[in-house]
Amino acid sequence: MNIETLLVRSGLERDRATGAISTPIYQSATFQHPELGVSTGYDYSRTANPTRTALEEAIAVLEKGAKGFAFASGMAAISSVFCLLKSGDEILLSDDIYGGTYRAITKLFPRFGIQSKFVNTTDIGAIESAITPATRAIFLESPSNPQMNITDIEAVCRLAKQYGLLTIVDNTFMTPYLQRPLRLGADIVIHSATKYIGGHSDVVGGWW
Ligand SMILES: Cc1ncc(COP(=O)(O)O)c(C=O)c1O
Repeated sequence: MNIETLLVRSGLERDRATGAISTPIYQSATFQHPELGVSTGYDYSRTANPTRTALEEAIAVLEKGAKGFAFASGMAAISSVFCLLKSGDEILLSDDIYGGTYRAITKLFPRFGIQSKFVNTTDIGAIESAITPATRAIFLESPSNPQMNITDIEAVCRLAKQYGLLTIVDNTFMTPYLQRPLRLGADIVIHSATKYIGGHSDVVGGWW
């Protein structure tokens, strides 16, 4: 299917219970089990909810990812990705990056022993020189917010693989319609829904 078809079809095959054509909004915190010890796959909406599953499947299809995870905001998605790191780890980030991401990684995560280093990710040599034995991941935006710097995502992914690092791309400014970082070798893609993927400034949400 072409991207236009994927955009209108993705995530819509879910409602096997009723056959509803549009994805229903399941406003239920908890779900009944058909019988003792048997689950429909849904028991508690924090862990899984059919409406959210549809959204997660759609974003995974559009980004050509293995799995999608939806969050209440872009920062919730970004913070959960940072939680993949552990004490003693270091992450390299683009030196021009969304302010909330900058504040989370410089003010919150150092409390848990996670350190960050900011580099000009448009310069592959600068990234390579910044890698240390503690480096675990490279986080970039391309174009970056706010300066619109362009990083060669494919080249960064190649370098990251040489050193066994995760490449994480915040794709908020492009959407999967224009750029699919997983196809360029990235491991994780993040979105804030408030910008172009929502399109109308009426949605708060995030994915990775
Ligand atoms: C590039 C980028 N990433 C992440 C975020 C954070 O997303 P949210 O505001 O949904 O938490 C923003 C918000 O402006 C952004 O521009």
